[in-house]
Amino acid sequence: MSLLESQKRVLSGMRPTGQLHLGHYHGVLKSWIRLQHEYECMFFVADWHALTTHYEEPEIIEDNVWSMVIDWLAAGVNPGSASLFIQSRIPEHAELHLLLSMITPVGWLERVPSYKDQQARLNERDLSTYGFLGYPVLQSADILIYKAGHVPVGADQVPHVEMTREVARRFNHIFGRDSGFEKLAEEAIKKLGRKNVKMYRALRKEFLEKGNQDSLEKARAMLQEQQNISLGDRDRLFGFLEGGGKVILPEPQALLTDASVMPGLDGGKMSKSYGNHISLREEPDSVEKKIRTMTTDPARVRRHDPGDPKKCPVFKLHEIYSKDGTRDWITEGCVSADIGCIDCKKPLIEAILTEQQPMRERAKQYEENPELVKSIVAEGCEKARGIAKATLEDVRQAMGLTYR
Ligand code: TRP
Ligand code: SF4
Repeated sequence: MSLLESQKRVLSGMRPTGQLHLGHYHGVLKSWIRLQHEYECMFFVADWHALTTHYEEPEIIEDNVWSMVIDWLAAGVNPGSASLFIQSRIPEHAELHLLLSMITPVGWLERVPSYKDQQARLNERDLSTYGFLGYPVLQSADILIYKAGHVPVGADQVPHVEMTREVARRFNHIFGRDSGFEKLAEEAIKKLGRKNVKMYRALRKEFLEKGNQDSLEKARAMLQEQQNISLGDRDRLFGFLEGGGKVILPEPQALLTDASVMPGLDGGKMSKSYGNHISLREEPDSVEKKIRTMTTDPARVRRHDPGDPKKCPVFKLHEIYSKDGTRDWITEGCVSADIGCIDCKKPLIEAILTEQQPMRERAKQYEENPELVKSIVAEGCEKARGIAKATLEDVRQAMGLTYR
């Protein structure tokens, strides 16, 4: 697989620290499901990342690993198009994490916003550990080991992807210049054939001198089509195009998912830690009870008191779940006190149950057959491991670690 093809690869992970809820569905999972049709997708259980915060309660992680995979499958992640795997089953992540840690300045880690935030927010946990400080380096290793081009994440994770880009750039800068890089690149150019040699040089010049992105794209496409140069030469020529050394670890891009918009039962952001969530596969009775007991606009003390949907958490959920017509009916009925809150909640309950119905159904076959889930993950692990091993070979070579 060439660099350009791997740039079409999507990678994302989730920490198995609790049950997934509708916030995960409307944020990250729906985008995974969309992406799986367009890209080669790899989704993994970030159990080591969970350990960085939950090292004193590893049983929580164990409980949630398999149920999270079932949640993914229930939501519609298709194991035929996406590979599902578990981080700790691919030890190469750990080796790359170690190697990247050699070149990652401590200052970068201390400046990542989630570092101080989480320490303050989770103050019942001691997070002054080496592992927690290194969280973004581990995440960089997760991404770079698959040379992923796109990383779908919520806004809170964007700084981690940014740092991954910086780590990759630094790595390529330090280790992508094997001695005589320029000479090797020049030799590789000559293998392109006369017409393409000219074209490569001209496009490279256009890009380096004028920053012409089009030329860069054209030159890349031309390299992509070359049948008779080695992968090493091709990567060298990709790197040389941009002036630098060989691109060993390509920089990924964050694909922002709108995880932040999903309101919880109290109108705040849905989160398990706020206890305002509905689980992905929650029992219908429990869903109904949660909606029925939701607080509404406090002005509606009695049935005939008018209310204002803008002040009501129920209406925020209607904004996700209901069509314009239903919302107009609610707004009119609420401000005129023509409808009661029970009437207003009924279509919401219906809509949520309807959304969950196929998920509960899909989950059933997996709940009844844990071996099936394990075999899906085993297959994903095998695929992931193959890619991870190949990248690590490149990395070891670049770092001069191939003596045996
Ligand atoms: N840190 C991510 C989160 O808390 C999980 C994660 C770990 C991840 N490694 C990753 C996400 C790599 C994307 C890519 O949600
Ligand atoms: Fe909220 Fe609906 Fe009641 Fe108005 S009618 S206060 S929008 S629950």
